[in-house]
Amino acid sequence: MEKIVSLCKRRGFIFQSSEIYGGLNGAWDYGPLGVELKRNLKNYWWRVMVHERDDIVGMDGSILMNRAVWKASGHEDTFTDPMVECDVCKRRYRNDQIPALTPFRTLAHILFSDRDGNVREECATVGGESPKDVRRKARVQSEYFNLGWKFESVDLEPGHTNDPARCCPHCGGEISEPRSFNLMFKTYVGATEDESAVTYLRPETAQSIFVQFKNILEVSRKKLPFGIAQIGKAFRNEINPRNFTFRSREFEQMELEYFCRAEQGIELLEYWKEERVKFYENIGIAREKLHARNVPDEERAFYSKGTYDIEYDFPFGRQELEGVAYRTDYDLSQHQKASGKSLEYFDEETKQRFVPHVVEPSAGVDRSVLALICEAYSEDEAPDEKGKLETRIVLRFHPRMAPIKCAIFPLLKNKEPLVAKAKEIVGLLRPHMNIFYDESGAIGRRYRRQDEIGTPFGVTVDFETLGEKDAALRDTVTLRERDSMKQERVAIQELPAILRERIT
Ligand code: GAP
Repeated sequence: MEKIVSLCKRRGFIFQSSEIYGGLNGAWDYGPLGVELKRNLKNYWWRVMVHERDDIVGMDGSILMNRAVWKASGHEDTFTDPMVECDVCKRRYRNDQIPALTPFRTLAHILFSDRDGNVREECATVGGESPKDVRRKARVQSEYFNLGWKFESVDLEPGHTNDPARCCPHCGGEISEPRSFNLMFKTYVGATEDESAVTYLRPETAQSIFVQFKNILEVSRKKLPFGIAQIGKAFRNEINPRNFTFRSREFEQMELEYFCRAEQGIELLEYWKEERVKFYENIGIAREKLHARNVPDEERAFYSKGTYDIEYDFPFGRQELEGVAYRTDYDLSQHQKASGKSLEYFDEETKQRFVPHVVEPSAGVDRSVLALICEAYSEDEAPDEKGKLETRIVLRFHPRMAPIKCAIFPLLKNKEPLVAKAKEIVGLLRPHMNIFYDESGAIGRRYRRQDEIGTPFGVTVDFETLGEKDAALRDTVTLRERDSMKQERVAIQELPAILRERIT
C-alpha cells in the first residue's frame, strides 16, 4: 500500500485534502489523473446500468433533504456505530476494530526523566500481542502522561501477564465499554441554529430515490420491474477513517434501486449479484480476487431478506466493494407511513395496488477506484536506453478505465517535420479520446512515464513516418502496447478506428 499511496501522490491521482494545512482526516482530493479514472468508472457504470438498458432511468438528488426523511428511514435513530475510547490516550475506535482479546496484559512501571532530569515513575495497565509488544506500548504511553519527558525504561510486573482484556492498539491502555455514535454529519439549514433547523448531509444516495419514487414512476411510465440509478456524494462521520481512501468521511456512491414484485425479489437478488460481479471483471478486476459473500442473518438489516457483499482482495485484506441487498418493501413503506403520501404501484393488468419491493446494488466509487489502482499496480523489468534492464512500474489499467488512452511522441523534438506530424495526429485523435502529447526526453523515458500512469498505447512518429527511408512507410507510425511493450506499424488514418475499438 505504501508504494501505491506514494505513486498516487507523485503522479497526481490522489492527494490528501487540505494538505498544506496538515490535511483533514477522511477527506481526499483527486488530481488530474485521478479525476479521469474516477470519471471513466462512473461513466462506464452509467453506460451499462442506464444507457444500455430499457428498464432503468437516472436521477440526481440533492445532498440536503428534509430531516423527516432521515427520521422515517431510521437513520436518525439507528445509523450508528458502536464506539470505544482508550482511557489513556483518548483515541476513539469503532468497537469492531479492537481485537476481541489482547493476550498479554500487565502492570507496567514506566520510568522517564522530566525536563530537569529527575527520574519519575508511572504505573499503567498495558496490553498487547506479546510481552515485547506490551513493552513497546508502555513506552508509547509515557508520551501521554508527560509530554516532553524522556522515556528511560519499563518494567513489567510479573504475575499480571496472560490476563486477557481489550486494549488500545496504539498505546495498550484500557478500552471503555462501547457506546453508540451516530455517523451522520449534522448541519443547520438557514440562519437559525436551533433544533427546528437541523438536518444532515446524506449518508447514502438511496433515500432520495425512494422519496422521488412516485414522481419518477409517473414521468417515466415504467412498468415493474424497473430501476432508478444515481451517482453522488455521501457523507459519514466515520469514527476511524483508514486504509487510504477505503473508509473516508466524504465519498461517492453508485446506487441502483431496482423495484419489483415481492415474488421476484430473491431471483433478482441473484441476478444483480451476477451482473455486478461481471461489471468488476469488465473494468479489469481479476475474477479470482472478487468474492460474493452471502451475508448471514445475524449481520443483515432486519428488513433485508438477503444480502451479498461483493468483496475484493485489497493489499490490506479482503474488504467490501459493494453491497447487493434485497430490502423488501421496507423503505417505500416507511416513507409512505411517515409522509402520508401513497407510494403504491398500480398494476393495470391485475388492477392490484401495492408497495413494490426493491433490490439494491450499492457500490462505492472511491473503493472501486482504489481497487482499480491496487489491481493495476505492478513492477516488471524493461531495458533502458543502453539496453540495461531496470525496474519498470506499470499501472496495467484496463484500456476502458485508463485516464489517458494514448500518448503521442515525436522521436526528436528539434526536427520540425516530426513535431508537425505528431501534432497532426494529436488533432486527429483528440475528438475520440483523452490523449497526451510529450516531446521531452529520451523516447524510453517517455514510455516509462506513461507506463507508470497506465496509458495503454503510445504512438511514435519517426523518420519512417516522413517516408525518408522507405516511401511505402510514409504516414505510418509505431503503435506500442503498454503491457507487452510490442510495437506494430500502422497507417495514421487507421489510428482512430484501431484505438477506439481497443478502448471501449
Ligand atoms: N444504500 C445502501 C448503502 O449505503 P452501504 O453498504 O452502507 O450501503 C454502500 O454502502 C457502499 O458505499 C459500500 O459498499 C462502499 O463501497 C461505499 N461506502 C460506504 N461507506 C464508505 C466509506 N466510509 N468510505 C468509502 N466508501 C464507503
